[in-house]
Amino acid sequence: MNMTRRSFLKMGAMAGVGLALPVGALSRPFDRIGAAGSVISPSVEPFEVPLPAPSVLKPVHTDSTTDHYEVTQKARTLEILPGMKTEVWGYDGLFPGPTVEARSGRKVVIRQMNELPVPVSSHLHGGRTPPGSDGYPTDLILPSGSGSSLGHDHGGHTVTTSDGFKDYEYPNEQRAAALWYHDHRMDFTGPQNYRGLLGMYIIRDEIEDELPLPKGEKEVPLIIADRIFNEDGSFYYPSIDPSLTGQGGVIGAYANGVFGDTVLVNGAPWPVMEASNTRYRFRILNASNAQVYDLALDPPPPGGKPFVQVGSDGGLLESPVSHDRILTSPAERFDVVVDFSRYPVGTEVTLKNLEGEGKTRDVMRFVVARKEKDESAVPDALAPRQDYPDPEAAGVTRRFEFRNGNQWGGMSTVNGKMFDPERMDASPRLDSTEVWEFVSDGEHPIHLHLVHFKVMSRNGGEPGPYDAGWKDTVLLRANERVRMAARFEGYRGKYVFHCHNLEHEDMMMMANFEVI
Ligand code: C2O
Ligand code: CU
Ligand code: CU
Repeated sequence: MNMTRRSFLKMGAMAGVGLALPVGALSRPFDRIGAAGSVISPSVEPFEVPLPAPSVLKPVHTDSTTDHYEVTQKARTLEILPGMKTEVWGYDGLFPGPTVEARSGRKVVIRQMNELPVPVSSHLHGGRTPPGSDGYPTDLILPSGSGSSLGHDHGGHTVTTSDGFKDYEYPNEQRAAALWYHDHRMDFTGPQNYRGLLGMYIIRDEIEDELPLPKGEKEVPLIIADRIFNEDGSFYYPSIDPSLTGQGGVIGAYANGVFGDTVLVNGAPWPVMEASNTRYRFRILNASNAQVYDLALDPPPPGGKPFVQVGSDGGLLESPVSHDRILTSPAERFDVVVDFSRYPVGTEVTLKNLEGEGKTRDVMRFVVARKEKDESAVPDALAPRQDYPDPEAAGVTRRFEFRNGNQWGGMSTVNGKMFDPERMDASPRLDSTEVWEFVSDGEHPIHLHLVHFKVMSRNGGEPGPYDAGWKDTVLLRANERVRMAARFEGYRGKYVFHCHNLEHEDMMMMANFEVI
């Protein structure tokens, strides 16, 4: 087996950690929080901090085709828990980072400047982006001034480096949708997202403009991310090397993912939002490293089905789908409308996570505070009929098994192999349709760069209730099988696909495809 030096070292270290695990942890391989050394965050009174709105990034200049932005990735101290200080690594020092507002068909260029002490790579998740701007894990922006000394020996891999900054070009030749941008550095995506390197990126188009959906103040991003805090208010993340310069990955007890005990929405713990008794459109992004949320409203509105889903990862659905709950895994986006006129004014409505335990069963609260006239509506037809890929036309079917061996001292794998930037795992032809089948052992949200796909079947049957529309990330629970069809349009070149549980990803549950 052709193993990189870094992987070999890491595997040895993981095996060591694995052996130290208590027997109980081994017999429950899919435990949420590691049995060993769990840290408990300082306690916070829920539903006291007002829900913050992420700031919107302003262009440094615009011309007839393009909006140009500059973002500095840097450390900054923020008050996340009331009265405490937390150092974050953020885009412009913010957590979450500033939201980019883009128009379909209009180019965005973002100059990303790195003032952090480590290399970074920025990826636009859900973007149909040329390979040079996609944030390949070894396409690194080195800390400014470090020359080319860092990053050369990245586990013996070929790395592309920029010194201090890189211009990312996003053509935005795609539908209106909520995308997000986040760090994608090889081996360190988990800790670097956790420290705060993530933000929203919203594309709009004329089709969306025409719809009477709630707008302005009534369109609210909900970026959900869980964290663990140390007693002094700093983030706790169980890195093997907390300096993030040597070995990637987390200590064995957390190998199945870092699950927080404190739920943040838009960077605030269990926040509260005052609403009028009208419809709101929530752009939900699960930006957690590992946690899956099964979102519900408590109390549910009379008559049930509180969530009207109008969009998925890839933009608006053809027609709305009503849900009692929204199940969302890391990196998925759900575009939902909630009508608070179904509650009497004065009602406190808690957004729950039915997958959580104790404090993490709560996410945030809405207070239906006032009456207001509602001009919005959810029409039966949202987007024109979509030209979904036809699985019958697929010339190639591929199968990928996602296995998380690391509880046993091994690594996470795709088809039994650890990620190797040099190995091509699939080479679809440009403009061809392919069917890909994913198989899981545990819980794995699977994500492809470049393309959006259509889920064709789940476990041999119909797609699930949360598989509607264009997807770029699909959740597989333990022992599931999902078939999807994708058209490999846009660009030739090399991209990754991977599990979006970021600890699994960093522990090598990632593979390459090259559009040829
Ligand atoms: Cu959201 Cu490869 O990433
Ligand atoms: Cu992506
Ligand atoms: Cu996984």
